[in-house]
Amino acid sequence: MVLHDTDDTTGQPTPARTGLENLLAEDRRFAPDPEFAAQANVHAEVYSWANADRLDFWADQARGLLDWATPFTQTLDWSGAPVARWFADGTLNAAYNAVDRHVAAGRGDRVALHFEGEPGDTRTLTYADLLREVSKAANALTELGVRTGDRVAIYLPLIPEAVIAMLACARIGAPHSVVFGGFSAQALHSRILDADARVVITADGGYRRGAPSALKSTVDEALAAGSGEIVRHVLVVRRTGQDVDWTEGRDLWWHDAVDGASDQHEAVAVEAEHPLFILYTSGTTGKPKGIFHTTGGYLTQAAWTHRNVFDLKPETDVYWCTADIGWITGHTYVVYGPLINGATQVIYEGTPDTPDRGRWWDIVQKYRVSILYTAPTAIRTCMKWGEELPSARDLSSLRVLGSVGEPINPEAWTWYRRVIGGDRTPVVDTWWQTETGAIMISPLPGVTAAKPGSAQVPLPGIAATVVDDDAQPVPDGAGGYLVLTEPWPAMLRGVWGDEQRFRDTYWSRFPGIYFAGDGAKKDDDGDIWLLGRVDDVMNVSGHRLSTTEIESALVAHPAVAEAAVVGAADDTTGQAVVAFVILRGDAQTDPETVGEDLRAHVAKLIGPIAKPRTVLVVPELPKTRSGKIMRRLLRDVAEHRQVGDATTLADASVMDLIQQGLATPSTD
Ligand code: WTA
Repeated sequence: MVLHDTDDTTGQPTPARTGLENLLAEDRRFAPDPEFAAQANVHAEVYSWANADRLDFWADQARGLLDWATPFTQTLDWSGAPVARWFADGTLNAAYNAVDRHVAAGRGDRVALHFEGEPGDTRTLTYADLLREVSKAANALTELGVRTGDRVAIYLPLIPEAVIAMLACARIGAPHSVVFGGFSAQALHSRILDADARVVITADGGYRRGAPSALKSTVDEALAAGSGEIVRHVLVVRRTGQDVDWTEGRDLWWHDAVDGASDQHEAVAVEAEHPLFILYTSGTTGKPKGIFHTTGGYLTQAAWTHRNVFDLKPETDVYWCTADIGWITGHTYVVYGPLINGATQVIYEGTPDTPDRGRWWDIVQKYRVSILYTAPTAIRTCMKWGEELPSARDLSSLRVLGSVGEPINPEAWTWYRRVIGGDRTPVVDTWWQTETGAIMISPLPGVTAAKPGSAQVPLPGIAATVVDDDAQPVPDGAGGYLVLTEPWPAMLRGVWGDEQRFRDTYWSRFPGIYFAGDGAKKDDDGDIWLLGRVDDVMNVSGHRLSTTEIESALVAHPAVAEAAVVGAADDTTGQAVVAFVILRGDAQTDPETVGEDLRAHVAKLIGPIAKPRTVLVVPELPKTRSGKIMRRLLRDVAEHRQVGDATTLADASVMDLIQQGLATPSTD
């Protein structure tokens, strides 16, 4: 069994899940509301159809949900496994499907985006507006020399131009690489280099926690670090009006380049397997992985899941996904899924507590949001802030609630349903990854019963299961590794520029089977419960961070000799980064400030999101005889537990030394 193994590479069950057994014993399940079920987009038959003929099911969805420039005749080609080809002889354009066809069908007046800026400014863009803006931006990019197949890096706050920029790239078949605006210059630099991006789209800054925060200066710093050699142009949106440095010939204002461009542009039909985007994610090495997705299969599954997991009614619903476009959730469930489906959605630039902790609920009330999709961390934070804030607003428009990014503990799930959903809304706990491209495991509202804390069942057309060390499916009631045994339309097609890494990371643990990196358990009903990562990847506020990447950043600091990083349970963020560092003997460091220095150093190299919550200075690290750090023991320390079995340590006294060393200042 994987979860309590003493093998150092295995993870810990998520501690927030205490009470799981109790909850299962009580069998607290919410049956679908009959009225909701009668009007739901899908019914139970969808499972039998997909089970009977998975490929027929997906081919039918691809035809029904998308407009093809050339219809496909072939559904799946798996002969090049593990690289799948879906609908490969068809051609289409993502932006055409997301925008043009809605306008052509007479829906140009429907609102596509209700933008809410953090300072309170708003903009409304209909599908017709979006078509004009995306066409202009596509013409401007073409003018800057961007051709089909070229990569464009996007480093923007969540403003309409972010959506427009992504669609403009898709329109000309230039894969975009969105880099989260919270990442540092170093992180941006390495992503620009890896993707060989020729144009960067950014803004002067964005609003965050009540103040403008700079983006353009970070791009300047990234380009100065070397990627400037390959980047020809930087297109800059004026958002905050703050001062920016300017490189003549390279930098252009968005309003100069885009506003005057023609609003007529014909979308380029690309092959279904043409890359749509690259998105970097953390792996078990320091180097970020460029996960890339292609067009036809990705859009099919994005559209199907968005429509059916949230029971979207495009004519009447107002949908809001709180994710930033810097993450996969922002790609699939802010940009492609909702727009392909012709939905009306809210996008919000800022944080939930600006200007006060009622901001999110004000937004739900103001736009009469009916579908809300967010992360457990946010739900737990709101829980901490108290139910008076949501209760003081009219949230009665909500009818479906979604959760993503990490296991949601049953307490937070039931709070979400009761306080936010007013006890009437289905809650869908959706499991998926950057690599899977779209939701894979989730209840279907109106169809399946919901069980707090469990992502439950694979969606129709998805083959997910839990296996043991020998790749055998575990019986109900047992735990193991989460795997996907059949290809799915939105699956990643590889790691950009590194096919070997793709094979090694996902396909080598169990030959021929995709291993997701997560531990999971099947309960007595056969429902799946996610139990967190079993590799060295942490999940902080629903964001994947690599222990190795943070360790590399720490040892790059002149004061640090060695570092080990673990994810420790945290009530709000799920996991928090805890760093154990050994200082260099000759280091000129002030023990009072070294923790803060190192936190700032990690923020600079990777981004504030990767900052350790706690830095512990220790005299030694626990290592096996083969020199492998035993993170399990460090996690015990970080989570204030009795330290577990340390007999395989090369030097068994190290743990005592560490415990004593913890008298040293930390930032906890
Ligand atoms: C975790 C985010 C439990 C999981 C869309 C996965 C979840 C990683 C859930 C992917 C969920 C995501 N329940 N765990 N509903 N959703 N995860 O690539 O560990 O940023 O492997 O994609 O988040 O994170 P990523």
